[in-house]
Amino acid sequence: MDIESAKKAGKVEGVYAVLKKLKFRQGEGQNSWKSLQAFFSDATDDINSSPVYGNDPMFDVLHKIPEGSHVKVHGIINEYGDEKQVRISSIRQAGPSDEDYDPSKLMRKTPNDIEEMFLYLEERAGSMSEGELRDITIGLVSQYAEELKKSPASVEIHHAYYGGLLEHVWRMLKIHEGIESLYPFSDRDVVISGIILHDLGKIFEYSLKKGGAPALTDSGELFGHIYIGASIIQNEATGIKAGELSPQVKNLLHIVLSHHGKREYGSPQPPKTAEAWLVHLIDYLESRMQIAGEEIKKIKPGKWSQQKIWPLENARLVNLRKKDE
Ligand SMILES: [Fe+2]
Ligand SMILES: [Fe+2]
Repeated sequence: MDIESAKKAGKVEGVYAVLKKLKFRQGEGQNSWKSLQAFFSDATDDINSSPVYGNDPMFDVLHKIPEGSHVKVHGIINEYGDEKQVRISSIRQAGPSDEDYDPSKLMRKTPNDIEEMFLYLEERAGSMSEGELRDITIGLVSQYAEELKKSPASVEIHHAYYGGLLEHVWRMLKIHEGIESLYPFSDRDVVISGIILHDLGKIFEYSLKKGGAPALTDSGELFGHIYIGASIIQNEATGIKAGELSPQVKNLLHIVLSHHGKREYGSPQPPKTAEAWLVHLIDYLESRMQIAGEEIKKIKPGKWSQQKIWPLENARLVNLRKKDE
């Protein structure tokens, strides 16, 4: 049974990936306690386990199971506030001898068709006017096609799964297609190229661990995607035309550097061109709405989120929709 169905059925029986485990420990001596919490996922959803305490025989079993492994879990669904958790009654490593073992269904993945999204991205790049910027954009898209199709867009904030980066860029391009006629003063080619390439560095910033959990790479930790993306583009640009960068390529590099909007969010410069503002605002709209969409799924009608959501101005979110809407 997949996780989405298990949440509805109220019980859990299936094979899942262990995304991560968290260990808690409190106090010293007689009154101390320790606990473990596991996070399971498959292609449909993810779910946390209820804490397993040190005096529970299940603690040692869970302790020995490595992150990223595939496990067979039995349990019941437990409501913790508004969050559904699984109270584990048994857990063990799973493998091909389990009849419901299918590793291709265990990875968290974009729900959209990867090839269709990539085709749309290529169409938008192809619709740019001929010239250096189009050559750079198409050149990088074809050079990094495989990485662009797979990369997550973050470790856990938004689109944190296989194909997440492509889904993020695809949706930004859709938004731009809808509004581009409203801002004819902006350079369409620069904006399209900026959207496609603004997060390119993420293909080297993240990797997917066994089990599908995104992780920061050494390059991600040391440089971050803004620097990585800008240096890839700079190399590609000087390959086409050495010397002074053209105004359009300067603008593209500026978009990569400024797309987080503020220095405290990791951008060395705030946006200083109309195109950079447009890409930053579309990026902000798309990423915040994806976060809101993920969070609202967890909140029952009429209720508030359990926690403050820091990417949404560190406020709680309320679901004001009626049940049957
Ligand atoms: Fe970014
Ligand atoms: Fe982005």
